[in-house]
Amino acid sequence: MLIKPFLETDIDRVKKFTDSEIGDGYYSREELIENQKKSCCSNGAISSFLLIDESSSEIKGLRLAYPPGNWSHGKGTALRDDLWPFSIHETAYFQSLFLAKDAQRLGWGPKLSEKSIDVFRQLGAKGIATHSWKESPNNSSVRYLLNIGFKEIIEHPLYWFNVDYICTRDGKPCRCTAVEMYLTL
Ligand SMILES: CC(C)(COP(=O)(O)OP(=O)(O)OC[C@H]1O[C@@H](n2cnc3c(N)ncnc32)[C@H](O)[C@@H]1OP(=O)(O)O)[C@@H](O)C(=O)NCCC(=O)NCCS
Repeated sequence: MLIKPFLETDIDRVKKFTDSEIGDGYYSREELIENQKKSCCSNGAISSFLLIDESSSEIKGLRLAYPPGNWSHGKGTALRDDLWPFSIHETAYFQSLFLAKDAQRLGWGPKLSEKSIDVFRQLGAKGIATHSWKESPNNSSVRYLLNIGFKEIIEHPLYWFNVDYICTRDGKPCRCTAVEMYLTL
């Protein structure tokens, strides 16, 4: 397996991956183009990464992450930046992290996230905020974030309720809860 930066040329296959692994329509093609642009940092680095199976060239994972200044909220709009230790202008954002089933539980999630964290440290970011998926299998989303040092800030019930997509758990609308979490760098 290989980790590489998410480039504009990857958009079509990333769309296929997010439709099948997150839920059909969760990201439109236009939104992925926007998200890739939001990952371009002032020092020329890219802060979002892909996990690739070298033998099949298939995408097995996606870590979307944006530097401070390139984001204002996640998929939902709820945000409690008044409870964070640093301001939103000093804070990077972890958006989606998704791995294909056969790439889960092998530590690839933390490895992809560390690549983004390295980029944010080089930029002088003070922290990273994220909205973790509470209903993920075995609470794995919150658990891997706690494992790498994130702290829970607050829960947002029905965080994705107004997102027009088919949730892999609920169908439509999504009734899942987001746990807002923060990592001080
Ligand atoms: C959540 C996810 C990103 C974690 O990445 P990962 O590389 O699998 O993480 P790790 O291997 O470090 O595992 C973290 C913990 O979750 C558990 N776990 C991971 N995937 C699991 C699964 N599918 N079912 C049950 N437990 C799982 C691991 O056993 C480990 O438990 P521990 O804390 O007791 O050691 C990944 O499993 C994934 O993509 N899951 C589905 C989508 C998802 O929930 N994404 C997050 C959305 S915000």
